[in-house]
Amino acid sequence: MKMEHKKLKSFPKDFLWGSASAAYQIEGAYREDGKGLSVWDQFVRIPGKTFKGTNGDVAVDHYHRYHEDVELMAKAGLKAYRFSIAWTRIFPNGNGEASAAGIKFYSDLIDDLIAHNIEPLVTIYHWDLPQALQDEYQGWESRQIIPDFVNYAKTLFENYGDRVKHWVTLNEQNVFIQHGYLMASHPPAVKDPKRMYAANHIANLANAAATKYFHEHFDGEIGPSFAYSPVYAVNADPENQLAADNAEQFNSYYWMDIYAYGHYPDAIRQWQEEQGIAPEITAEDAALLADPLARPDFMGLNYYQTATVQANPLADGIGLAPENTTGKKGTKQESGIPGLFKSATNDYLQTTDWDWNIDPVGLRIALRRINSRYHLPVLITENGLGAFDTLESSHEIHDDYRIHFLREHVKAIHEAISDGVQVVGYTTWSFTDLLSWLNGYQKRYGFVYVDRDEQDERELARYPKDSFYWYEQVIATNGEDL
Ligand code: BG6
Repeated sequence: MKMEHKKLKSFPKDFLWGSASAAYQIEGAYREDGKGLSVWDQFVRIPGKTFKGTNGDVAVDHYHRYHEDVELMAKAGLKAYRFSIAWTRIFPNGNGEASAAGIKFYSDLIDDLIAHNIEPLVTIYHWDLPQALQDEYQGWESRQIIPDFVNYAKTLFENYGDRVKHWVTLNEQNVFIQHGYLMASHPPAVKDPKRMYAANHIANLANAAATKYFHEHFDGEIGPSFAYSPVYAVNADPENQLAADNAEQFNSYYWMDIYAYGHYPDAIRQWQEEQGIAPEITAEDAALLADPLARPDFMGLNYYQTATVQANPLADGIGLAPENTTGKKGTKQESGIPGLFKSATNDYLQTTDWDWNIDPVGLRIALRRINSRYHLPVLITENGLGAFDTLESSHEIHDDYRIHFLREHVKAIHEAISDGVQVVGYTTWSFTDLLSWLNGYQKRYGFVYVDRDEQDERELARYPKDSFYWYEQVIATNGEDL
């Protein structure tokens, strides 16, 4: 029996209805105006790493078409737009001299958004680390990145802080660190848990240092965006319940506890020590992480799905498996961490073609769990449906499946707000179609169709989908008319 409300509270008047993107996935122009190369510019050229060898060299050419995109955002009535800045446009080598052209590009974009009454929400880091820093000191594995990251963030605060009031520090640290150092499916393509936890700890320090610097010198709000998939146990067997608790701690609290409280969960620390893979934490590290000025003002939540797990005994335990990157439904494999948990099928949920669970109630649960564990406002920085879309000869796209997905998720947010969770905004993934890191261009998320595919860039023409007009109505009625 669900907890039903007699009457739902209204969405707050200043609720940030918006959409989101990331530089590498939309901009293209990967070598223009002095931009340096990022680790993704290099990684996509390794054969077999991305779907059909796709890359973001051109992406959806937002670098040249941003004004057209902003006009479409205004047409949809967006109140906010979350985008990321390419570190390599600001500092082509990651540190050293800033690029005037790079600073100007984002300044113009911010001005254009504001001129259209759209609030810019800026992500400082969405995975495109300067290759120069990877080469110089192995990127996130060196403490040298901490001052470089803070200096980069400071440059953004100084140049845009007069106009940007919401900042996201790191996008999905759990994803880029685990894919980069455990699954080898993101750069630097390492499979080594010890290196993973060491790099992750350094990323935590960089995040805390930048957050602290911001709070000391600027006004506004800052927080990380975290990819949170609440975990269910497959059934009431206590061993499976324990596996669910393991997964929740291992996949989520390990990151969110650091952001909100500055310490790692004890159970995971113990487990890491047993395995000899615990990161080194100095007294200075502990002091920085615990500094009240390093606390986020909100928890950014990227929500796509829940996870369901069961026990995974150490003896012949199941290890991590690659994800379905083809869109062939039903090809996902069992995956887990021996001794902690492994995936299980949830018979109550349908899935996307990429085998992601579709679970709007899970979003309400995610919001409530964050609220009760961390007592922070939540900014939903991503949520959306990756699907195959069909461009009709009339240039229409009838994506009723996406409308259904988003409608159910907006209802879940509405219910969570009525449960007492403070939700400040919702930026869907994504505004235009864009490059999916590992899944090419066929896995589409946008309200606006971009006419290109893996092989052919065509004209990159933009066509609003049916969901575009649906969202316009949702925003115009502040979430009343779904
Ligand atoms: C999030 C990322 O993990 O999910 C986005 O922040 C990404 O950059 C999105 O595109 C959807 O994932 P995918 O793998 O379907 O592109």
